[in-house]
Amino acid sequence: MTQISSQRIKQIISAPPLGTTLEIKGWLKSRRDAKGFSFLDITDGSCLQGLQVVADSGLTNYQEEIKKLTTGCCLSVRGVLQESPAKGQAAELIAEEITIHGWADAALYPLQKKRQSFEFLRTLPHLRGRTNSIGAMIRIRSRLSHAIHTFFQQHGFYELHTPIITASDCEGAGELFTVTAMDLAHLPITKEQQVDYSRDFFGQQASLTVSGQLEAETYALALGNVYTFGPTFRAENSNTSRHLAEFWMVEPEMAFCDLAGDMDLAEEMLRFVIDDLVTSAPDDLALFNRFVDKELLKRLALLQEPFKRLSYSEAINLLLTSGQTFAYPVSWGMDLQSEHERYLTDSLFKRPLIIYNYPKKIKPFYMRLNDDNKTVAAMDVLVPGIGEIIGGSQREERLDVLTARMAQCNVPQEPYQWYLDLRRFGSAPHAGFGLGFERLVMLATGLGNIRDVIPFPRTPGSAAI
Ligand code: 4AD
Ligand code: MG
Repeated sequence: MTQISSQRIKQIISAPPLGTTLEIKGWLKSRRDAKGFSFLDITDGSCLQGLQVVADSGLTNYQEEIKKLTTGCCLSVRGVLQESPAKGQAAELIAEEITIHGWADAALYPLQKKRQSFEFLRTLPHLRGRTNSIGAMIRIRSRLSHAIHTFFQQHGFYELHTPIITASDCEGAGELFTVTAMDLAHLPITKEQQVDYSRDFFGQQASLTVSGQLEAETYALALGNVYTFGPTFRAENSNTSRHLAEFWMVEPEMAFCDLAGDMDLAEEMLRFVIDDLVTSAPDDLALFNRFVDKELLKRLALLQEPFKRLSYSEAINLLLTSGQTFAYPVSWGMDLQSEHERYLTDSLFKRPLIIYNYPKKIKPFYMRLNDDNKTVAAMDVLVPGIGEIIGGSQREERLDVLTARMAQCNVPQEPYQWYLDLRRFGSAPHAGFGLGFERLVMLATGLGNIRDVIPFPRTPGSAAI
């Protein structure tokens, strides 16, 4: 079967070649019968709209097949495109030949034409892509990914493929999934009664990466500006609407860059990709603006304005004087909880924020120590409705300060000699950040649950398909 003869509905709708014969292939959304003919609404996933097909009773398989078509059946239609007399569509396809590729038993097919809840659709990860909303989400996801690559390529960054299997815990949070080839029923045990990973595949304990940052740093200090965009894995047992065990992260790393430059890049990148989306996917965005979040387009427009920047200490002061009662009491040195972030983004400033200079005690070892000796050059980008979408920092480039911080954070030096080498040989100020790609898709669609912005969500207790 070749695709060359068929056309995608998106192209047909955007410039209908009226009067020509063409072929479409797709899935039936609905069938409506009139006297002597039927209307078939067919989608092929290329855009939100379907194409209306008029199937006349003169077609050889009209009685036997076409009148038995139900939602979900797969078919191809060859016919002549004509101006549609009805409102709501410019063109319709007058069928000359209809071939059924796959039937979908109406008694068993779980998707219906009517709207179904996102919770219900989550039980059908293999079929939900055929719905308007999840189909639109995937198209938006794809476009955002494309725009991210475009942005970095246009700005002179090289894409770096960082490893998925690694021996380092970048964030030091211990949320690692171990990768092993050992027989779990017969683990080799050391004299100290520990699992003997020296006898495992890699000769040491290895895990799935939580971030490609440390490896990206090595190449930033060779090529200048690099970025990695890949899957990352965290075994954090938080069953929230913003956390996945497997998510995609975009991580640029720049030599000769400080925290201010890092914040500028984060802001510029977000603005670029959202602007690109608004111009390239108006129909899909309009769907979400109508059915999911009526403020969506307004909120996306806000991203075009400069983000509010404030230090962690300023943020704490604003929370302390807010007159609000929070479940987690506020004090300097605490990690901001989502209720605090929400207050700042959703209630107080009502726009994206960048909070910088966090206490060193709540941040990983690699962030650059500020002169106050209390804070590090870290920054988080927070957006209304979601909270943290980006986390980044200037990196500690001074060998002595870095080793002291590692000692304080209980990070052993021996496995990180390669990382320390970067400070021993030709060290440079450098900075980078990580954008949670699914959180970006949440921002772009207004979808409130992270399980609905990735095709196959992995969460505690769930990885079946
Ligand atoms: O703030 P995080 O943990 O930062 C890092 O991993 C740095 N090494 C990045 C860097 O500087 N290169 O994670 C970055 C972003 C968060 O802001 C959030 O958007 C997303 O990754 N994220 C998650 N997204 C979904 N599910 C999870 N469990 C996530 N954990 C972090
Ligand atoms: Mg973070």
